[in-house]
Amino acid sequence: MADDPESTHLSPATVSLHDVWLAFGDHEVLRGISLDVRRGETLCILGGSGVGKSTILRLILRLLHATAGDVLIEGRDITTVSHDDVLELRERMGMVFQGSALFDSLSVRDNVSFPLYEHTRQTEDEIDARVRQVLSFVDLEPEDVLELLPAELSGGMRKRVAIARAIVHEPPILLFDEPTSGLDPITTRTIDDLILKLRHELNVCSIVVTHDLASANRIATESALLFDGEVIFNGTPEEMYASEVEYVQAFIA
Ligand SMILES: Nc1ncnc2c1ncn2[C@@H]1O[C@H](COP(=O)(O)OP(=O)(O)O)[C@@H](O)[C@H]1O
Ligand SMILES: [Mg+2]
Repeated sequence: MADDPESTHLSPATVSLHDVWLAFGDHEVLRGISLDVRRGETLCILGGSGVGKSTILRLILRLLHATAGDVLIEGRDITTVSHDDVLELRERMGMVFQGSALFDSLSVRDNVSFPLYEHTRQTEDEIDARVRQVLSFVDLEPEDVLELLPAELSGGMRKRVAIARAIVHEPPILLFDEPTSGLDPITTRTIDDLILKLRHELNVCSIVVTHDLASANRIATESALLFDGEVIFNGTPEEMYASEVEYVQAFIA
């Protein structure tokens, strides 16, 4: 049922933050954040620099621990589960880090296969086939790129490899931190198209942190705008343009 797009709103959220607070020392970064994302949805988290966008992704992965509130992954609270269960929940997610964060000294093949060696017990042949399949999915020609090092790729290709690595173990949840920052407008569009393809063909639940409003308008089913530790707007891109909240209007302008 949860995989049926028709029933997404009847099913519980795949990622759910409920009244999440986070402080670094006496700096309160998040002050009561609540967000819900389901399979087949893409939530874009928008907001100015330093507002706490990346921090939200780190909380979802439990690379950080909330001061208060719940962070539910497929209904389980990652803030309270055991260490083993945190690892199990993390396997349900694929993360595309800002700047791609590929292993510089590893080939494309070894970068993309890395999660399979970590999370599965597939044979070398199965891993080779899966790596080729996933590179094709992100529109890279496996034969051309398998043995290249990240430094030999363009920025857009590096991003595709990072996305291939994030999806290779078929996680239902994908997290992207500024996936198009530093890319030219045409390459940005191709990465946006790829994020759309992931939703349409794999029905993933995606959370995309971005400060690029044009990208958000293209890929988001919902956008959340952060300001001063709070979600001051959450709705569809169309609703965002119709919003009368002053900061929302200023952000759009
Ligand atoms: N580990 C940390 N220790 C202290 N302060 C941090 C840490 N990580 C982030 N911050 C601060 O939290 C705020 C939000 O950071 P971040 O989530 O990276 O913002 P952005 O919205 O630009 O992604 C910033 O003021 C940042 O300086
Ligand atoms: Mg950030």
